[in-house]
Amino acid sequence: MALRHFLTLLDLSPSELKDIIDDAIKQKAALTTRTSYEPFRNRVLGMIFEKSSTRTRVSFEAGMSQLGGSAIFLSPRDTQLGRGEPIEDSARVLSRMVDMIMIRTFEHEKIERFAAYSKVPVINALTDSYHPCQLLADIQTYVEHRGSPQGKTVTWIGDGNNMCHSYINAARLCDFELRIACPEGFDPDPALVAANKDRIQIFRSPKEAVKGSDWVVTDVWASMGQEDEQREREARFNGYQVNHELMSNAHSDAVFMHCLPAHRGEEVSHELMEDEKVAVVWDEAENRLHAQKALMVFLANQ
Ligand code: CP
Ligand code: NVA
Repeated sequence: MALRHFLTLLDLSPSELKDIIDDAIKQKAALTTRTSYEPFRNRVLGMIFEKSSTRTRVSFEAGMSQLGGSAIFLSPRDTQLGRGEPIEDSARVLSRMVDMIMIRTFEHEKIERFAAYSKVPVINALTDSYHPCQLLADIQTYVEHRGSPQGKTVTWIGDGNNMCHSYINAARLCDFELRIACPEGFDPDPALVAANKDRIQIFRSPKEAVKGSDWVVTDVWASMGQEDEQREREARFNGYQVNHELMSNAHSDAVFMHCLPAHRGEEVSHELMEDEKVAVVWDEAENRLHAQKALMVFLANQ
């Protein structure tokens, strides 16, 4: 048995990613008929959250319980991690007690250090740099609504943040073209852009970027940890709202995604969020559950 972690999408090969998405779709169908599937009986997932969460916490906790296991929620407020116990020590102790660990934290380097000392699979549930679990759900959602993303044109509008970085990795794994429209000063990591320059293009005009796109996606302008920049960012991202007018430049069949939580009236209009013909955000949120269940089964079976 090989120990595999999921810190970024690049921890999977394209065919492993496809298998996980296929399994997520199967598990979703099985759940509607309440077909019992409990490969995780007596298994425990440790969930470390150093940032807030609704979707990630509930999807992992509900998912683990549906698979026959259980989950323990750990916050820095009531663990020794929050009082400065070294990551390396916490990783060694926790991984002797639970079967898998998911972490939501700030610096990506922290989760890499944790994984290096863990005896069990570690899953990135969001860092400042990446949010790969969200991409599993987004890819599943695109596949369910429109089929394979291979060869499609995907446009990211907004901050070159953790979600944008994971879209760059997804472009590579799923073989799609990624256009990124962001104001100057908010570009994604230049090293990541350089490493994927064959399939990425940076735009300053959201309208130019979405022309003919099949899939349009955005995220909040100020991520967790950037709350004190909210005002300044609102000014800098003026003109980057995704709304029906912007979407009218995309392919007539284009879908809109947002990882949520959304700030209506800022990065997305209220009307677009409520337009279920275009916005597939509720399926996208639900798919966190199915995609992560498939991911956990995959990691446990390595
Ligand atoms: N999209 C997402 O990760 O949501 P939460 O912050 O609610 O977990
Ligand atoms: N970019 C956002 C994603 C939230 C799910 C953040 O990091 O806050």
